[in-house]
Amino acid sequence: MSYVIGGACVDVHDMSCVEECPVDAIYRGDRKLYIQPDECIDCGLCQSACPVGAISDAHAVPDQDLPHVADARRFFYEPLPGRAEPLGSPEGAQHTGPAGVDTALVTVLPPNA
Ligand code: F3S
Ligand code: F3S
Repeated sequence: MSYVIGGACVDVHDMSCVEECPVDAIYRGDRKLYIQPDECIDCGLCQSACPVGAISDAHAVPDQDLPHVADARRFFYEPLPGRAEPLGSPEGAQHTGPAGVDTALVTVLPPNA
């Protein structure tokens, strides 16, 4: 398993987590960031860096963020809206760049004030 970014990141995307990740496994969508579940090495550094507490160990995800566990996998392994191919495991968010889109689940979430 890996760490998971939940709904508190939506519309906030503080980005402190990205600076902490030693394997560059945190990828940018549009309204939210997503941890690549097969690239994350479970170090936990991103969790303590997030100022809004959006990141959880996948073994201890709060109920409201449970949908984001499967959704993180969908972000990488199903084609995103407007894309023909899934992102997969690009092995580095920096060289991949922002996807510019989110999963269907995140796209329809209400604004996070
Ligand atoms: Fe989001 Fe927190 Fe990272 S708001 S971008 S998970 S530091
Ligand atoms: Fe990266 Fe460690 Fe988080 S590998 S995604 S900083 S748990």
